[in-house]
Amino acid sequence: MERTYVMVKPDGVQRGLVGEVIHRIERRGLKIIALRMNTITKEMAKKHYAEHAQKPFFNSLIDFITSGPSVSMVVEGKNAVVVMRAINGATNPVNAATGSIRSDFALDTGRNVVHASDSPESAEREIAIHFRESEMTGYSRIDETWVYE
Ligand code: RTP
Ligand code: MG
Repeated sequence: MERTYVMVKPDGVQRGLVGEVIHRIERRGLKIIALRMNTITKEMAKKHYAEHAQKPFFNSLIDFITSGPSVSMVVEGKNAVVVMRAINGATNPVNAATGSIRSDFALDTGRNVVHASDSPESAEREIAIHFRESEMTGYSRIDETWVYE
């Protein structure tokens, strides 16, 4: 099954949206196989957002993402990467599809509550930054035969 890396960013934690995000992941049928709250270090943040190193918003993005606790998850399921990006909605909340997290809870690109990997390759890279293999739990959800054909 495909895996993706998901984060409730510091704004989501401060606004009490951790449960809201987890609820949407769980009820869709996706499986959380690793979960942790921590304040990520500048070093981890720079690795995580390395693709944006030359962008004008890079420094403020690093300051923001390391500004307080965030919740990191590894989420597994069929088409987990694409499905999770749709659950989150477009980067700029103005363009986020109605019913997505960013549409329901955000107004500003720099305070868009959640992160999810943008491809299976990014997911593999990001999961390795945030989790050790031993932190990922293999288990079956009792509803899997009802979620999958
Ligand atoms: P993320 O990586 O956080 O899930 O967001 P994303 O894929 O939807 O968007 P991405 O292009 O990877 O941008 C990463 C984060 O940087 C901030 N950003 N600010 N001011 C700007 O123009 C700008 N563009 C991006 C956002 O917080 C975005 O989530
Ligand atoms: Mg991104």
